[in-house]
Amino acid sequence: MHLRMNLSLAQEVEAGLKSTLPFISPKFFYDDIGSRLFEVITLLEEYYPTRVEKSIMQAHAKDIASAVGSCEVLVDLGAGNCAKAAALFESLQPKQYCALDISKDFLEGAVADLQKRFPQIEMQARACDLSQPLHLPDLEGKKKTFFYPGSSIGNFDPRQARAFFDNIAVLCGGAGGLLIGVDLVKDSAILDRAYNDALGVTAAFNLNALLHINRVLVSNFVVSDWEHHAIFNETESRIEMYLRALRDVELVWPTGVLQFKAGTLIHTENSYKYTKASFTQMLLDAGFKKTTTWTDDKGYFLVCYASAA
Ligand code: AVI
Repeated sequence: MHLRMNLSLAQEVEAGLKSTLPFISPKFFYDDIGSRLFEVITLLEEYYPTRVEKSIMQAHAKDIASAVGSCEVLVDLGAGNCAKAAALFESLQPKQYCALDISKDFLEGAVADLQKRFPQIEMQARACDLSQPLHLPDLEGKKKTFFYPGSSIGNFDPRQARAFFDNIAVLCGGAGGLLIGVDLVKDSAILDRAYNDALGVTAAFNLNALLHINRVLVSNFVVSDWEHHAIFNETESRIEMYLRALRDVELVWPTGVLQFKAGTLIHTENSYKYTKASFTQMLLDAGFKKTTTWTDDKGYFLVCYASAA
């Protein structure tokens, strides 16, 4: 089973690298080092989303709790270090906490630490790839509050985001809902800074994907052959991240070889920015019945509760 999973992952990576516009899925950012680098990104002055989202959650904690109502199971989608969900425990009082993330080891450590702080809440950690449809048969019949903070939804393209919302709305089964944070469209200079920080942490986060790929494919990427490149595409309303070859590169792995010319771009991530109107409309189109929203003074970020009831 383990071998089969690795094989299909390697095939997936190979297909991406060989495509006309080469790409690496952003899920390859989140190995042990990448998950830690992302935590550091969230502390950077330039990277406002985490900080602004937290301030909105704190300022409107009571209103959010009353919009959500009773919370039987808090399902944390992309839990990371679980800190954001833990900050909601006091106001939402969940009976059960189900944490999902792609990085299993990192998640299990975080949930074990959290369980010591909140022994009264039943907790579970599950490894899960959110780019695939989500099934939660053991939580059927329970009232679920899905939690998807940090504008991770922006890393899906709008079509995938809509499919994701359709999936969550069905899992809600007419009760509970989705509490979600999303980054809003704004001046492109602010967005450019957020993805090109002076310390180069985002660059390290992006480049680290090559080391992860080396383990999956058993390939020979050399980090210093590549540089980080991030730009805001206004037409598509998204930050695009790439790795750019600084010189001609020959990539070799046990079953293949690929040449990348100097200047070749490997696409690694899109981070879509929404307007409040477009975002709430997408949730309603997916079958949620009502949305309640909160934002910050500058209108940088949006927190939204989409009720399924
Ligand atoms: C996880 N995700 C919402 C981040 C974002 O802003 O799109 C990932 C990230 N990429 C570069 N910096 C942060």
